Amino acid sequence: MSDLLSLELKRIAHEIDSRFDALLVPPDDSRRQLYEAMRHAAIGGGKRLRPLLVSGAARLFAVDSECALRAGLAVECIHVYSLIHDDLPAMDDDDMRRGKPTVHKAFDEATAILAGDGFQALAFQMLADEENHHDPFVRAELVLALAAASGVAGMVGGQAMDMAAAVTAQDLPNVTRLQQLKTGALIGFSVEAGAILGRLPVEGRTRLRAYAHDLGLAFQIADDLLDAEGDAATMGKAARKDEAAGKATFVSLLGLDRARAQAQSLSDQAIGHLANFGREADLLREIAAYTVKRDR
Ligand code: IPE
Ligand code: IPE
Ligand code: MG
Ligand code: MG
Ligand code: MG
Repeated sequence: MSDLLSLELKRIAHEIDSRFDALLVPPDDSRRQLYEAMRHAAIGGGKRLRPLLVSGAARLFAVDSECALRAGLAVECIHVYSLIHDDLPAMDDDDMRRGKPTVHKAFDEATAILAGDGFQALAFQMLADEENHHDPFVRAELVLALAAASGVAGMVGGQAMDMAAAVTAQDLPNVTRLQQLKTGALIGFSVEAGAILGRLPVEGRTRLRAYAHDLGLAFQIADDLLDAEGDAATMGKAARKDEAAGKATFVSLLGLDRARAQAQSLSDQAIGHLANFGREADLLREIAAYTVKRDR
């Protein structure tokens, strides 16, 4: 990993942790357990790749770093909520996440469902808050983009298709579509948020969107590869789950070698879309390279 990336990963991890710490102060009433569960899920773990992507895209347009951080926090809220619910017995039924027991294991299922719900609301509260950006049009565009990326046309829709992928036969176009929604949509939002905050007109976003598209697929192929051959302790979550669940993934459809080659070529292609940018795009380039080399 490059110095730039390891420095930026440390910086964003610290910033996101301290913001969640300040946002989630357990009250002295019967919501205490809910707050503790949210802290358990959100603080101290995770690569924080989505907030880092917001920051990487924002620096192309000299966006204020506080605005970028808040948008990053919002997408991390949706991501954490998606993980809490993804791990529930009704979905992937997992016991470990980010090196700790999953929320329903450490607490209980009702608390895990509510913690996810709490994060979803918190995400939109972050974006709609006047402190986020002085321009209400920018705030509204961020809210709209995150809602689209999170809902039935985005992450939630992809999760529904993923559940179906365990019981019905899937081909490569189906799995590609599924992954684009399940994982690609939030990655797409993260990059788009930088452009929205930078007030880049939609016509100017083609290359960034192409970068996010290829990165999102590369990211999910890497996740499927890690499930097949990664180390559970390093990843902080169980491995060999997809095959056991009978899930159609890039690995089950392409095999390990072709999946690896496909992830690498998508990462190269993502970097290729940034050719018109200068050094200010180095962080985005490094993220794309790291995505397919990561071991967690
Ligand atoms: C895991 O995401 C779930 C997927 C969308 C594939 P990450 O690999 O980004 O998980 P954390 O945030 O680092 O824990
Ligand atoms: C989860 O995908 C994606 C979302 C939570 C939206 P996976 O089920 O493959 O993620 P892991 O492998 O449990 O992290
Ligand atoms: Mg899942
Ligand atoms: Mg899962
Ligand atoms: Mg997985």
